[in-house]
Amino acid sequence: MTLAVVNCSQLVTMAGPNRPRVGPELRELAIIPGGTLLIEQGRVKAAGASAEVERLFTPDTNIIDAEGRVVTPGFVDAHTHLVFAGNRADEFELRCTGTTYQEIARQGGGIRSTVRRTRAASEGDLLATAQKHAGWFLRNGTTTIEAKSGYGLSTEDELKILRVVGQTSGTTKLRCIPTFLGAHEIPDEFAGHSEGYVDLVIEQMLPLVAKHKLARYCDVFCEPHIFNVASAGRILEAARRLGFGIRVHADQFSCTGGAQLAARLGAVTADHLEHTDEASIAALAAARVQPVLLPGSVYSIGSKHYPSARAMIDAGLAIVLATDFNPGSSPVAAMPIVHSLACTQMKMTAAECLGASTINAAHSLDLAAEVGSLEPGKSADFVVHEANDYREIPYFLGTQRPAMVFAKGERVV
Ligand code: NIG
Ligand code: FE
Repeated sequence: MTLAVVNCSQLVTMAGPNRPRVGPELRELAIIPGGTLLIEQGRVKAAGASAEVERLFTPDTNIIDAEGRVVTPGFVDAHTHLVFAGNRADEFELRCTGTTYQEIARQGGGIRSTVRRTRAASEGDLLATAQKHAGWFLRNGTTTIEAKSGYGLSTEDELKILRVVGQTSGTTKLRCIPTFLGAHEIPDEFAGHSEGYVDLVIEQMLPLVAKHKLARYCDVFCEPHIFNVASAGRILEAARRLGFGIRVHADQFSCTGGAQLAARLGAVTADHLEHTDEASIAALAAARVQPVLLPGSVYSIGSKHYPSARAMIDAGLAIVLATDFNPGSSPVAAMPIVHSLACTQMKMTAAECLGASTINAAHSLDLAAEVGSLEPGKSADFVVHEANDYREIPYFLGTQRPAMVFAKGERVV
């Protein structure tokens, strides 16, 4: 049996070259006006003009009328912290009254407060919470995410979180790609001897994560007082030797070599980059590292220091936009809100936002053969937006929600 979505005002396919899109290519959406999408066994069979695709219909084709709405690929969110217990609404209130994100962290709050709660939570409780978060992503049009550990900071708790990522992917319609982020913060028990924690990550955690195939990528929060370039480099080199792809939280609060490290190690992505300078942008371009920009985290911590998206696009970087969904710096799972921030604060266009959060994000996760565009053979992950023109997606800020969301050809919203 096939499924057809007819009467799309714009069928945004993102069809194009089989590589991340750079420069002006990022605005090319391969839109089919009045298009029809045909799905067979959870995969795209055809995406084209109605007259052409209708010829492939069979008597049992199930027809869905998009009623003149926009259809796009499901969003691919390439940077999230899916699994955590509790929330930090209390810290959000403190930040609103003037305490900074970093002051809260220095006082023992921040990541370490979520670590205390996540350690205390059972695997079953964490799974139930992660499934709830998965529903938030799907409801907002995201069908694939990258999901980092990093709120365990002990071998047992980091493995627990990574198992929950796998279980969430297996029990919901949200495809989750796991990343090991054991080096997210120095846990309380290693205060004052962080090198001991770096050794634990390298000698115990990484080999176990690799042995049990619990993650495809390894990430480190690289910042002078957390994991400096030397420590981050040691961890990431060890990860690379074990076959992990590299992602780096780089230059979030200072331009102190994080992006340069990502370039030197041939990382797949360098994420955040709020303070990255021109020389580092050039290094990322030379090493073909994809920047993952996270305006939701700039907004939510009350900063005004957004990354230089335009300079990165001009330098030929294949940029990615993601939510950074987490309980501290970015409590947002909705990609359209990230688009809106990217448009108003980083001067990106609606078209660039779509490219950065679909096909480019898919490439950053080595998933472009499966998701990120609506081309024959790929997974039928798509969104029918409550919009007639794709430019309405970032425009109606926090207002329009997808009318329908499909993952692997099945309606999930
Ligand atoms: O990407 N910078 C480090 N990690 C997260 C924040 C995590 C948290 O505040 O809980 C980030 O912004
Ligand atoms: Fe993050």
